[in-house]
Amino acid sequence: MLSWDEFDKEDGADAAVAGNTTAQVADMNIDKLDQVGGAAAVEARAIAADDSAAVARAKAALDQLDIAEGLAELEGASARVAVDEKRMINCRADLNQLVPFKYDWAWQKYLDGCANHWMPQEVNMNADIALWKSTDGLTDDERRIVMRNLGFFSTADSLVANNLVLAVYRLITNPECRQYILRQAFEEAIHTHAYQYCIESLGMDEGAIFNMYHEIPSVAKKAAWGLKYTRSISDPTFNTGTVETDKELLRNLIAYYCVLEGIFFYCGFTQILSMGRRNKMTGVAEQFQYILRDESMHLNFGIDVINQIKIENPHLWDAAMKDEATQMILEGTQLEIEYARDTMPRGVLGMNAAMMEDYLKFIANRRLTQIGLKEEYPGTTNPFPWMSEIMDLKKEKNFFETRVIEYQTGGALSWD
Ligand SMILES: [Fe+2]
Ligand SMILES: [Fe+2]
Repeated sequence: MLSWDEFDKEDGADAAVAGNTTAQVADMNIDKLDQVGGAAAVEARAIAADDSAAVARAKAALDQLDIAEGLAELEGASARVAVDEKRMINCRADLNQLVPFKYDWAWQKYLDGCANHWMPQEVNMNADIALWKSTDGLTDDERRIVMRNLGFFSTADSLVANNLVLAVYRLITNPECRQYILRQAFEEAIHTHAYQYCIESLGMDEGAIFNMYHEIPSVAKKAAWGLKYTRSISDPTFNTGTVETDKELLRNLIAYYCVLEGIFFYCGFTQILSMGRRNKMTGVAEQFQYILRDESMHLNFGIDVINQIKIENPHLWDAAMKDEATQMILEGTQLEIEYARDTMPRGVLGMNAAMMEDYLKFIANRRLTQIGLKEEYPGTTNPFPWMSEIMDLKKEKNFFETRVIEYQTGGALSWD
């Protein structure tokens, strides 16, 4: 890491020679420096005798550049931002000024996401490849679970990423949340990469797997349900600012964060992680474990955004919207129950579709209460308490006790 101490030390010899200049510069105040700097910048643009025609044209073109016009193109006013001007949606303050922070939790999640960085190639897939290729390593029911889940997830994370980048990012008018959304979008790319890496390592029929979201009804229905909520807000002419359009964005956030990432992922995660706990497909399970850790942060971020929008715009959270949100979460739960039945026509890996149904109802209750709605499946308990332990996994303590991976990129920088 670079530090100012090293900077001073390394420059010691030169500093003695250039002592005069340094003192002169130190004497100048910032205003004077600005004037000198401005004059030097103008001088640099003067067309010199040895400039080529192209260089001269480039310099001349910059004479036409109007700073005021550039600023007018920016989202929000270009003045300095005060914290209380910041808003989750429909904000009019400059969105390029990250600080001062209003939502510290969003910045903290960005930092936590970066600290949890991982890449799919770091996971050893050798045992999985051997098991997948052996004729008696896995039962047909277990193979079905691996294929269905890679089929669902390999495209689901693309749907989430597209929704973020093409629809949500533009409409969330807060820079610290956008910073997290950019991190999340990259994590979704890593997840799609991880599924592709599993599919390729196991030598699966890629066409069949990547097309399940068209061809297998229990997968296709979940994808179609999510896409329905992207359609209107991804239209480039869509804007928030009316009660109806603000509600439309809220519906999208509930659909993606609470249902897609908050319910649709949970049957598959539980099945694959249960496989890993039984020492089968441990590489795929480890990939899913890292993904689940990222996803629980995505979910928590989304819940915080939704609740903040409710606080700032209480008129949006009326009885009709609450009914709609409840209905959306219940529809999602029903689709995931159907997916559980399709992927587990019989008991497998110490679980069955009925237990999964209980688990999904337990999860649905959580999602409802997280956004301030009442439980719809009272009295449901969690049949898979080990899932909560996995979700709380810290980087230092890997559930499968494989290696610890740390990213320390700063120390590797060299200025030579
Ligand atoms: Fe993801
Ligand atoms: Fe996600």
